[in-house]
Amino acid sequence: KRNYAITLLPGDGIGPEVTTVAKNVLDLVGSLEGIEFNFREMLLGGAALDVTGVPLPDETLSVAKQSDAILLGAIGGYKWDKNEKHLKPETGLLQLREGLKVFANLRPAIVFPQLMDASTLKREIVEGVDLMVVRELTGGIYFGKPRGFGTDENGEETGYNTEIYAAYEIDRIVRFAFEIARKRHGKLCSVDKANVLEASMLWRRRVIAIAQEYPDIELSHMYVDNASMQLVRYPKQFDTIVTNNIFGDILSDEAAMITGSIGMLPSASVGSSGPGLFEPIHGSAPDIAGQDKANPFATVLSAAMLLKYGLGEDKAAERIEKAVLDTLNRGFRTADIYSAGTKLVGCKQMGEEIMKSVEPQVPAA
Ligand code: NAD
Ligand code: IPM
Ligand code: MN
Repeated sequence: KRNYAITLLPGDGIGPEVTTVAKNVLDLVGSLEGIEFNFREMLLGGAALDVTGVPLPDETLSVAKQSDAILLGAIGGYKWDKNEKHLKPETGLLQLREGLKVFANLRPAIVFPQLMDASTLKREIVEGVDLMVVRELTGGIYFGKPRGFGTDENGEETGYNTEIYAAYEIDRIVRFAFEIARKRHGKLCSVDKANVLEASMLWRRRVIAIAQEYPDIELSHMYVDNASMQLVRYPKQFDTIVTNNIFGDILSDEAAMITGSIGMLPSASVGSSGPGLFEPIHGSAPDIAGQDKANPFATVLSAAMLLKYGLGEDKAAERIEKAVLDTLNRGFRTADIYSAGTKLVGCKQMGEEIMKSVEPQVPAA
């Protein structure tokens, strides 16, 4: 029997609701595949602030580092929005990503045929979309220095951040993305703002240099403003997209809507060594938290990515992916992906339906 230590970070808002579903699905799939998961639940974000006074307690980071993979719900909420920066839930998440050195964030956006009518875009535009956003996750404006608040020469209050990339940070994420593109459909689009920003000019130069190592990959470059337009105009033109931290954040939320809902998009964050971090791309959704309305698919699909990219348990990952499709085929929908003629359910019941879809069907006697 294979044994894995999984750090569970439910976080805030809908985080605990969606991670409960994903944990149950993992346990069930594990029991069918001869895998045992030892979950250890730790504090992160607002939940950690309330108990320990910091958004990422040392113990959370050290337990996470020693585990085989980390499954995260989401963090944040109104209660902590006015906190000083170092006491924000979001700061805890950024410290976790930095501490785990997970520089590569994979955010696949796949349109399930069952959800074509859940998208706000026309069916013929979204049909067949299957793209991968490779987002740089531990650099750029999120971490660049100097940053802070100050005063300008007129005594006006200022707030400032620094978009900065070292060549090695660009090189490693770009190589990572070329490798992903090679396993997909051989197309890579690098998104930048090289017409204006020095950090993007260096980015583009490094992409062009590294492309020499990948003559088999069809490379293109796009400015981020155009890319955000192209994503809704004709998303099928994209296979793999590689971009910096902040552009990747924004473009992946946009890509989510092609699939119907932000509640559908999983992610995997990995680095050169150490455990990976797996989380939905959505936030803690404080507007629906505690109401059993959250869509758990993004987190359940993140658990599938954990199995595949984190543990190399491809068969177990496929079981989850199949169960998600089967649940959709049986017509179950949370409110965010509901359309006429389907069955509206809450987060809990959706979890139960996914479990039924995982369980091998016992033929009637
Ligand atoms: P959000 O993603 O939490 O919510 C945006 C909208 O999408 C809301 O209307 C919400 O109800 C809906 N939504 C999100 N996930 C859903 C799901 N699974 N099922 C159904 N509907 C869903 O973004 P926001 O409102 O901008 O941010 C709320 C809080 O979450 C903030 O504190 C923010 O900092 C934090 N946040 C955290 C993460 C993370 O933990 N990785 C990501 C994004 C935002
Ligand atoms: C995400 C979130 C985070 C980010 C925030 C909460 C720090 O939006 O995971 O996409 O900007 O990376
Ligand atoms: Mn985001």
